[in-house]
Amino acid sequence: MKRVDTLLTRTERGPGSPSDIAPVLHQTATFRAVDDASFIEMASTPRHSGYYTRDGNPTVAEAEGLIAALEGAESCLLTASGMGAMSTAVLGLVRQGDHVVAQRSHYMGTTQLMSEVLPRFGVEVTVVDQTDSQAIAGAATSKTRLIVVETPANPLLTLTDLANVVEVAKRHNALTLCDNTIGTPINQQPIRIGIDLVMHSATKFLGGHHDLMAGCIVGSRKLIDQLWREHTVFGSVADPFAAWLLLRGLRTLALRVQRQNETALQLARFLEKHPSISRVHYPGLASHPQHALACRQMAGGFGGLLSFELAGGFAAGNRFINSLQLPARAVSFGGFESLATQPAAMWSGTIGDAAAAAAGIAPGLVRFAVGLEHPDDLLEDLGRSLGDS
Ligand SMILES: Cc1ncc(COP(=O)(O)O)c(C=O)c1O
Repeated sequence: MKRVDTLLTRTERGPGSPSDIAPVLHQTATFRAVDDASFIEMASTPRHSGYYTRDGNPTVAEAEGLIAALEGAESCLLTASGMGAMSTAVLGLVRQGDHVVAQRSHYMGTTQLMSEVLPRFGVEVTVVDQTDSQAIAGAATSKTRLIVVETPANPLLTLTDLANVVEVAKRHNALTLCDNTIGTPINQQPIRIGIDLVMHSATKFLGGHHDLMAGCIVGSRKLIDQLWREHTVFGSVADPFAAWLLLRGLRTLALRVQRQNETALQLARFLEKHPSISRVHYPGLASHPQHALACRQMAGGFGGLLSFELAGGFAAGNRFINSLQLPARAVSFGGFESLATQPAAMWSGTIGDAAAAAAGIAPGLVRFAVGLEHPDDLLEDLGRSLGDS
């Protein structure tokens, strides 16, 4: 197997493709059949990438091949957004009467899917504290079809022990789905631990440039082919141009993530010692309650997202973000430019105050998405905004 940096420089093209070194952008909704026999063949071949772009597209297929290789999986399905991937995977797998185990803390769109959408279709969801392996084991039943995890989780960077989740799922004959958006395949590869399906918001680190929306689901060919059927009905299809931008962004994924890992750790160590900060959430810190698990599970590094609590609450967090000069106040993460937000405002606005509080989001919490700026410039900006002279 090639090392990840080399993998990222290579992509497979379909038979008869042109010999361009850079990916070819097939920005087309439909494809001409050369004759009636080939039309019938195209129409009846699952995931054909030269029939109709909702079924498949060569540029999309090229990005799918690269992401599957990165995650160590057989197959990948690109979607229009991360939520497109999450809802396609979940709704494509569960049936009325099934039971799902999910986390107390997820990206808020996933929380909404679990708390508002699934119950409407007769699917029962049990939400557990994801840091408690016993709680996950205790929540699974003979009806459990799916265990959904996100590690590290947005926005508190809590970890879920994937080996434990795999063991629990095996015992109950359930499937496992892991959101690896924050982890990235550079730092951890859940499929290699035995997780059945991984999904990403490719809008984040995979794309890396804050310029595209996409998502993906990776796993065995059997499961992905099964989900593809539903995907063509749900219609959360990746646009070829987004797939092309994604391929371009992916070439530098390893370089970017390695740098973001290093910078995030430096910032976390600085913030941990700062008197205005009451708590830093970053699994790379030795003081993080799950640091030992992070070292086992995140062999490549601890990621480019961190969050921290200002002792002065929401108003102090607000003042702090206002005075930052480098990071923009904007949602999202994983791109070239650092971004800072207040999760209390984001989560409460979407899922309500009570659900945000239940997810453990303190009013003074700031989420910091580390970009590619020089770490010393970010440290200076942080220090100045926290009142250091
Ligand atoms: C962990 C995680 N999963 C999924 C999503 C949804 O992705 P998208 O915004 O691409 O739909 C997000 C978005 O922020 C996220 O942070």
